[in-house]
Amino acid sequence: MLQFYPVIPPHPILDATYNAGRFWAGSTRQVVSMDIDPKYKPDIVADNREMPGVKSESFSVVVYDPPHVGPQGRDKSTKRFDVDFGATMECGKQQDWTLSYLYPPFLAQAKRVLQQDGLLLAKITDMVNNHMSRWAHCDFMRMAEDAGFTVCDLIVKVRAGPMTSNRWKTAHHARKRHCFWIICRNSSRCERITRSV
Ligand SMILES: C[S@@+](CC[C@H](N)C(=O)[O-])C[C@H]1O[C@@H](n2cnc3c(N)ncnc32)[C@H](O)[C@@H]1O
Repeated sequence: MLQFYPVIPPHPILDATYNAGRFWAGSTRQVVSMDIDPKYKPDIVADNREMPGVKSESFSVVVYDPPHVGPQGRDKSTKRFDVDFGATMECGKQQDWTLSYLYPPFLAQAKRVLQQDGLLLAKITDMVNNHMSRWAHCDFMRMAEDAGFTVCDLIVKVRAGPMTSNRWKTAHHARKRHCFWIICRNSSRCERITRSV
């Protein structure tokens, strides 16, 4: 994506939900890391809905991979979702059972810190919560447009694996084996403007 989409040089990059920085394993790109949780030792410990101290128009690319499930208090699995995937943000009745309330304040900050024509690359996963599918990727695209971005593309990334589990006793929704990469440009259009001379 960083070879294909940029119309301005794709640096510096802000990863606004850095965690362990898995996206950048083996990469030589210079990435400024931000996370709300100091234990990941990011360059900037901050809430990406506020980004205090980050200068306006200072990044060419912002990368966003927010939590896509709520706290897994009753999850007895050894995967430790809460710790490993930052599944710590509330998404109960008060939040209308979704995490989409995180997006508008983040989008306003992403818009502020991005240069004109810069890119916002967001990895968004839908979820099932309180017996309903919650279409986070639809919310994100609508909210990104409301924030003044142009949504350029929606890429579906699919993992191998079964749609169901034989450990499930009752199932109403298929296992999520996919996520979406949403490519947004800080511009009123997606394509490079070619000026005639
Ligand atoms: C799904 S993980 C990101 C994984 C990461 N892309 C990687 O490759 O390792 C989500 C991260 O977002 C962080 N996070 C959640 N809410 C945040 C917020 N409001 N501001 C900054 N970071 C936040 C969590 O602490 C967690 O580390």
